[in-house]
Amino acid sequence: MKAFDQETFENILSSKGVKIADYVQKRDAEDEDLILRPLEVNDHTKGYLELIFDDVETADNNERERVFEEYLSLQDTCPGTYYTIVVEDLNRNKIIASGTLIVEQKFIHEIALRGRIENMIVDQEHRRRKIGSVVLGLLTFLAEKLGCYKTTLNCTDDVALFCEKMKYMHEAGQNFMLCHVTPTVINPDHENTSRL
Ligand SMILES: CC(C)(COP(=O)(O)OP(=O)(O)OC[C@H]1O[C@@H](n2cnc3c(N)ncnc32)[C@H](O)[C@@H]1OP(=O)(O)O)[C@@H](O)C(=O)NCCC(=O)NCCS
Repeated sequence: MKAFDQETFENILSSKGVKIADYVQKRDAEDEDLILRPLEVNDHTKGYLELIFDDVETADNNERERVFEEYLSLQDTCPGTYYTIVVEDLNRNKIIASGTLIVEQKFIHEIALRGRIENMIVDQEHRRRKIGSVVLGLLTFLAEKLGCYKTTLNCTDDVALFCEKMKYMHEAGQNFMLCHVTPTVINPDHENTSRL
């Protein structure tokens, strides 16, 4: 299986009988210069990191770009796992929205696939224009087409309504539990353990 690129993106959708153009319909004139596509390695030059992180003013951005490239190349080693979609404003060469589907293979469900949505974000200037709906809708659709038996996402209270409108519901009796840990070396043979 190949890493997630444009061809794979289109193949996944079209092999199931759906074309992107059928799914993402143009909604108004303002959308004409917006395209949906997989994340690419030079997207850090188009504002992807500024979109995802809110500390670009103070962060070491050169180091972050290096990590970004490493992160993408690591994804090539586990194809079929990470699916990041971005929306690019072609007029401004700027990434204005993004979301990632991570596909996990569940041992306890006979290696069935379970989807998780991460890093769902729309640039402040472009919110409430249904761009988030398109990205989350497409990732959810992609998860379904890949065969995920369920897809989940974590969100804060202030965006719960958005998630509910996208059919992600709070499940009675289920809680999102969190344990903050200080990173420690887990595998001393792994060269990147300092960031684990
Ligand atoms: C949450 C977020 C992705 C929504 O993106 P968006 O493009 O503004 O959302 P849309 O325009 O597609 O909104 C779809 C619907 O949700 C509603 N909605 C969007 N954000 C909302 C919010 N914060 N509170 C309540 N409703 C909201 C919209 O009004 C719209 O309702 P409608 O269909 O009845 O008109 C965006 O606000 C964002 O990036 N937030 C910060 C990052 C974040 O919290 N990510 C986690 C999200 S899972």
